Amino acid sequence: MQIKLNNPLDMHLHLRDGEMLETVGPLSADSFSGAIIMPNLLPPITDKASLLGYKQRINSAIGDRDFTLYMTLFFKPDYSRDFLLSIRDELTAIKLYPAGITTNSEGGLSGFDIDELRPILTTMSELNIPLCIHGETNGFVMDRESEFVPVYEKLAKNFPDLTIIMEHITTKASVDALDKYDNLYATITLHHLLITLDDVAGGMLQPHLFCKPIAKRYEDRDALQKVALEAHPKVMFGSDSAPHPQDSKECPGCAAGVFTAPIALQALAELFDKNDKLNNLQAFVNTNACRIYNIIPTEKTITLEKKPFVVPDKYGTVVPMFAGQELSWSIV
Ligand code: DOR
Ligand code: ZN
Repeated sequence: MQIKLNNPLDMHLHLRDGEMLETVGPLSADSFSGAIIMPNLLPPITDKASLLGYKQRINSAIGDRDFTLYMTLFFKPDYSRDFLLSIRDELTAIKLYPAGITTNSEGGLSGFDIDELRPILTTMSELNIPLCIHGETNGFVMDRESEFVPVYEKLAKNFPDLTIIMEHITTKASVDALDKYDNLYATITLHHLLITLDDVAGGMLQPHLFCKPIAKRYEDRDALQKVALEAHPKVMFGSDSAPHPQDSKECPGCAAGVFTAPIALQALAELFDKNDKLNNLQAFVNTNACRIYNIIPTEKTITLEKKPFVVPDKYGTVVPMFAGQELSWSIV
């Protein structure tokens, strides 16, 4: 059995820089037609020169593969309207990190004061620049996302014309917020569709499944699966594929991030197939995203076949999710 996906998109991707980019860039470009590129480099992408330079380095890493780069800036509350106008054509979204919440987010936002945020969020609304948010408080790790939901709601209410993407949602609380506000959308990762905290820490600790936000409870995973498998019109696939070298994962002080880019479509096909929902995969990996972001990616058809695929132990220095295990779908 085979299925064809038209222009599959990864709406949340970390490609890093330098040698790591050389390893992981081509892998994403082999599976996907385009991706939203996260700006959490060191230093983060906060100006036009660094955004264009990064885009060029990605393009040189992926060579002649067709892959549309949807670039983002790292949110700063003091971006001026003139600055945003000057960069608008190169920009697909702005990514907001609460300060210190995850990898390379030290320069993120402390506090969500609506009056302080009003100028930039009004400008973003007027210029149709979506705001992507890593929605976690610095509370107890299992509650960080659900504690953040009131912040999403406050932003959605105060800025009804702003497109707000709740990134990598992991809880039923976030799923429930989706239908309450017209301007709230979400990305969902592969790993949060498949694992719970039990898989990370219920037995021997699994560093390659450790990420932010941490995987949650069974009822949360069920809620995520439900909206993904039905391809709810407000959810999109975003891998949050976040490569770290093996020695930064298998050590005390394990870095957060699950590397899934090269196995994501195969594992999604397996999940949707098992649930008899293969017909909804196209909407989850492409149609919803194109409508929400108003984008038209590079034409690329990816054919998937129900044929075993043994996930490599490593890609360069990075250990992928499901390393050494067999998936039931492969890319032709
Ligand atoms: O687990 C994560 N890793 N979560 C994030 O939000 C960032 C990412 C990274 O950049 O490594
Ligand atoms: Zn991310």
